[in-house]
Amino acid sequence: MKKINIAIDGPAAAGKSTIAKRVAEILGMVYVDTGAMYRAITLLHIQQPDKEIDDLVQSIDLKIVNDNGQRIYLNGIDVSDRIRANDVTLNVSKVASFASVRTKLVKLQQEMTENKGVVMDGRDIGTKVIPDAELKIYMIASVQERAERRLLDNQNRGIEATLEELIIDIERRDHLDMTREISPLTKADDAIEIDTTGMSIEEVTNRIIELARKK
Ligand code: DC
Repeated sequence: MKKINIAIDGPAAAGKSTIAKRVAEILGMVYVDTGAMYRAITLLHIQQPDKEIDDLVQSIDLKIVNDNGQRIYLNGIDVSDRIRANDVTLNVSKVASFASVRTKLVKLQQEMTENKGVVMDGRDIGTKVIPDAELKIYMIASVQERAERRLLDNQNRGIEATLEELIIDIERRDHLDMTREISPLTKADDAIEIDTTGMSIEEVTNRIIELARKK
């Protein structure tokens, strides 16, 4: 198979990370979860609330390590689990709307895709980060199913939240991510939409692999 980049975008908890990770494993590609990068800056903002976000961004040291999935290091510390906590989830859409944050992270993400062979998931990957990606997927699912999947995921990680709270959070983040001024979440014209409601992880993974192999 020729070396390509795959962009996977879609709303919160649509299963993008799970699928992107599997696709990357099967095709021998590098998986990058860009949401984790926005979450890491949000964590820094929570830890240093008195500093301006624009200043925090200038000094941040972010490292992404691929080790059976992705680990993320913030100023030398592995924060991969910490960034999934509720305080980060509640604040991340706001932090991700800052121009300084997006400029910094988009640049880092573009550097990672220069040599191709990357499966990258996020909100603006097909529209902004890699507009020339060989394959673009826009993944959606019903709010109910996304909340149910996130509930299971949270239970496995030991994070507490009820289904009702998750539905409210998902709807709130979708709204913020889709209506922000800079690079709002939207389907790229040349993206293939997959509605994963009622589909298994394996079915979605196979569909994307089939599409990738045709490239
Ligand atoms: O994928 P996630 O739920 O971990 O992403 C967390 C937040 O980060 C999401 O609500 C919006 C923001 N985000 C973004 O603005 N652009 C991206 N490419 C990825 C995530």
